[in-house]
Amino acid sequence: MKIDNRTVLLTGGSSGLGLALAGALVARGNTVVAVGRDPGRLQAARAAVPGLHAIACDVADPDALPRLHEMVQKDFPALDMLVNNAGVMREIDFNRATDVDRVADEVDVNFGAVVRLCAWFVPMLMRRPGSCIVNVSSGLAFAPFPAAPVYSATKAALHSFTQSLRIQLKSSGVRVVELAPPAIDTPMLTGAMRAAMDGQRMASAADIAAIALRDLEAGVDEITPGGARMLRLLSRLAPSLLMRQMAAMYASHAASSRA
Ligand SMILES: NC(=O)c1ccc[n+]([C@@H]2O[C@H](COP(=O)([O-])OP(=O)(O)OC[C@H]3O[C@@H](n4cnc5c(N)ncnc54)[C@H](OP(=O)(O)O)[C@@H]3O)[C@@H](O)[C@H]2O)c1
Repeated sequence: MKIDNRTVLLTGGSSGLGLALAGALVARGNTVVAVGRDPGRLQAARAAVPGLHAIACDVADPDALPRLHEMVQKDFPALDMLVNNAGVMREIDFNRATDVDRVADEVDVNFGAVVRLCAWFVPMLMRRPGSCIVNVSSGLAFAPFPAAPVYSATKAALHSFTQSLRIQLKSSGVRVVELAPPAIDTPMLTGAMRAAMDGQRMASAADIAAIALRDLEAGVDEITPGGARMLRLLSRLAPSLLMRQMAAMYASHAASSRA
């Protein structure tokens, strides 16, 4: 599957991995439409990636999606690739009072939006030969990091959803791919989450974008670069050991948060 001359709708295209994917896709001659909430950040992305198109939209708001769909149908009718990359990651400690709205928001962005966007855009994709959906999950889809319990659960749900979608859409010609990155050095990893990664190598967004496009073209349907592949393997071969490791990481994270 060649990734050139395509029309790509890329959520979260204004920062981190999405911005790196936008740059790599445009450089290969694809038409890329980046979606994000903050118009200023989208503007900066357009300046950084000449030729990038942008639409401001909160994908977690179900009422915003009909307009997004209408705009894409009108201005980018050749859409043949949907990359569900937008995501948020929060540290949530259920020992303490939790902001219910923030928790719900995380579920809506990371999982609800992907399900809704697939429902909106699959009919369009089915009309284009060789079309493709890429859902960006995480290595944490295979083993939860307890400091980010809702994030980890949304990514596990996304992994499951992507598996079902791949099977359902097989005969429609729409290929369904999961990109499960390891820790990446992006603005998403902040504060104690970044501190928890201390001493561990983090991939760059550009490296993960390059691996993603290489593996997409090679026909890989579950792309698991670096540490994500190890997490997937351990979750199958030694799940108890892996959970003990995640619990130990959480214990040291919790201790440093209290200090
Ligand atoms: N960084 C990591 O270590 C890591 C590891 C594994 C997987 N991932 C996954 O990789 C993807 C990209 O993460 P990143 O690290 O590149 O994060 P990032 O730098 O924080 O970028 C997140 C992007 O999503 C957009 N976004 C967030 N909420 C949105 C909403 N409701 N509607 C539309 N756009 C929204 C943001 O733009 P606005 O804020 O302007 O909306 C931004 O463009 C995510 O799915 C993440 O879970 C990241």
